[in-house]
Amino acid sequence: MPFYNRERYIKEMKAVLSGEPNFVYFVYGPINSGKTALLIKVFEELPENYRVFYINFRWRYVADINNLLQVLFDIRRGEYQEDIREIITEFFKESARAVKRFKGIPIPERIFDVIFGEKKVENIFKYLEGIFEGIRECGDVPVFVLDEMQSIKEVINTVGKPVIHELFNFLVGMTKETHLCHCLCATSDCLFIEDVYSNARLEGRAKYILVDDLGKEEAFRVYEEFGFGNKELVWDYIGGKIGDMVSLFEEKKRSYKEEEALKRMLKNERARLEWIKLKKLKKREDGKEIWSLLLNFKEHWETTKNQFEEHFDKLLFWIEENVLFYNPMEGTVRPQSRLLWRAIKEVV
Ligand SMILES: Nc1ncnc2c1ncn2[C@@H]1O[C@H](COP(=O)(O)OP(=O)(O)OP(=O)(O)O)[C@@H](O)[C@H]1O
Ligand SMILES: [Mg+2]
Repeated sequence: MPFYNRERYIKEMKAVLSGEPNFVYFVYGPINSGKTALLIKVFEELPENYRVFYINFRWRYVADINNLLQVLFDIRRGEYQEDIREIITEFFKESARAVKRFKGIPIPERIFDVIFGEKKVENIFKYLEGIFEGIRECGDVPVFVLDEMQSIKEVINTVGKPVIHELFNFLVGMTKETHLCHCLCATSDCLFIEDVYSNARLEGRAKYILVDDLGKEEAFRVYEEFGFGNKELVWDYIGGKIGDMVSLFEEKKRSYKEEEALKRMLKNERARLEWIKLKKLKKREDGKEIWSLLLNFKEHWETTKNQFEEHFDKLLFWIEENVLFYNPMEGTVRPQSRLLWRAIKEVV
């Protein structure tokens, strides 16, 4: 599928990656806004000497440190040197850029066995640092990318502490302190962002890039590419959510008429809300109040978080259910999509 209309973001990301690594970058935004696709697009367009390690934690379930090690590393079996330079050369020999393969960090089986045996998180970081240094020595630029990183928030180390805090300290070390490696973290879980921001002491050490849904003008241009007919109607249903545009495109391929397809999509969102009401809210004492909190969004697309100070726990319910999108940097709350907004207006 072709890639549409993200020039501004692509430029911004490339600018970030062209300089010296100074900050950990968080790429965040509502669900299905195109964060992952954008990252991959940028990596594909980077100069040949960029060595991108892209780890997507959604692709495999990470319950504990053992899974984490398996996901992070690409274990190289057989006769490999222990010299990091040779590991890197071997790894990059087959393809110019690691990003095409999404395989994790190369590690000889023997070294992996040691790290795995001891399960010490610091060993992982020591090895990673060696790899990044090795890449720098070759005159190349390492880029370390963790996508869907909220998936590992529950993972603990051998002394029962969350690995994620150690991980962030490591990333700060790689950027602000040694300027060795570009570090990007992508997530649509903004409560998680707020949590790590306050707990891992990231103030002044991290920056945030919001990859949002498209505005109307940009969206109309993409509608054109997708061959949508009644643009105003499409906007009224799905707005600038690229993921929903892909869905509509697919529905139309299955020979649904545009309006019919939009109605089907809306019906699914309504059903999702009804399901939450029935399955999760009915048994809660404060279920009715949580449900009626959505009334605030009937008229307004976006409100500030402060408006909910007294009912923050109720607001939290909808954020955790991915019905509302919370932007921690701006302190605003809104439905995750225009389609959901429409469903809220009809159902609540
Ligand atoms: N610029 C684009 N042009 C065409 N298709 C796109 C573009 N950006 C994203 N898509 C498509 O839209 C869908 C959602 O994109 P993507 O998975 O990148 O979103 P995301 O923000 O990472 O979602 P999540 O919140 O689930 O992580 C995918 O099918 C993707 O291929
Ligand atoms: Mg994604």
